[in-house]
Amino acid sequence: MLVTQEPVLRRFWYPVMPLAQLMDGPQSFTLLGQPLVLWLDRDGKPAALGDRCCHRSAKLSMGTVNDGCVRCPYHGWSFDGAGTCTDVPQLDPGAAIPKTYRVTAFQCAERYGYAWVCLSDDPLLPIPEIPEAEAAEHRLIPQFYEPWQCSGLRVMENSFDNAHFSIVHAESFGVTEQPKPAKSEIVSLELGLKVYATVPVVNPPIQQQLLNIPDTLTVRQVESTWYAPFSRTLKITYPNGLMHLIFTAATPVSDRTSQIVQFCIRNDTEADASTESIIAFDRQVVDEDKRVLESTDYDTPIDIAAEQHIPSDQPGILMRRQLSMLIRSEHSNHKLVPEKQGATQV
Ligand code: FES
Ligand code: CO
Repeated sequence: MLVTQEPVLRRFWYPVMPLAQLMDGPQSFTLLGQPLVLWLDRDGKPAALGDRCCHRSAKLSMGTVNDGCVRCPYHGWSFDGAGTCTDVPQLDPGAAIPKTYRVTAFQCAERYGYAWVCLSDDPLLPIPEIPEAEAAEHRLIPQFYEPWQCSGLRVMENSFDNAHFSIVHAESFGVTEQPKPAKSEIVSLELGLKVYATVPVVNPPIQQQLLNIPDTLTVRQVESTWYAPFSRTLKITYPNGLMHLIFTAATPVSDRTSQIVQFCIRNDTEADASTESIIAFDRQVVDEDKRVLESTDYDTPIDIAAEQHIPSDQPGILMRRQLSMLIRSEHSNHKLVPEKQGATQV
């Protein structure tokens, strides 16, 4: 599946940039091959337009923000968040600006400290709801924002793959002597999955400190949610009640590149575990995944028969099925038929 070839993927919300990066003025981001300019409007809300001025096509992202509008770097025309031209310095003051002076606008919203964009006016799903992010006693830690040279589907499948821990994560939390994957309960949702598992993990000294668990082995209760097409939450609860919830999106930039957007939510405090050390441990884990994921074929097949499987690949198989059904229904312009809901054991 080449992401830029599937228009249905434009009908989802994607986190594209930390809001903090927009404080410095307009920024560029490419989503599904569509160049965008993002900036903060008068109310501090993010806005997104196509990154081409309608006059002589200069990149608006090279411009400035003036009075909540983005101002083109070439002749200084300004555009608001709806794409309407609000100022043409070359016209007489008070002269009407032709309505055709406009740039394509895209839906843009703030959530969890990030600007999210949907390239369609008709999104299939809302921005993922993460109730844990709203709880006052929880802290949200921005972790990673970086391009990976791999497909978002591979990143999602990897997140739900219990069979790679003892190999890929042998240095961090994988139990080397236990390559047999933990059993999962899988529930298919409409354009998503829920997966529950109990996973034994190695608890290295650094984690013993961060988790406040003195044992060298522990266990994770895991509740994972896949939000089609390329976002997930991984809610880990340890035996002492500590919650470490990770949100990861593999926002599709182009056919070969995904922008990894990751933050975590914890129910402990800075005094229990420092932000820096939490990021450092997750950095190690994420780099272990990145290394192998960037070696995979970016044109990821959604045809189940195209690759070989083991039972623990079931979440990835369901993702491929849901995506092929979605693409088929978009191609045939039929109403989307949700996959049958229910639980399966693997
Ligand atoms: Fe943007 Fe001329 S190219 S104002
Ligand atoms: Co992994």
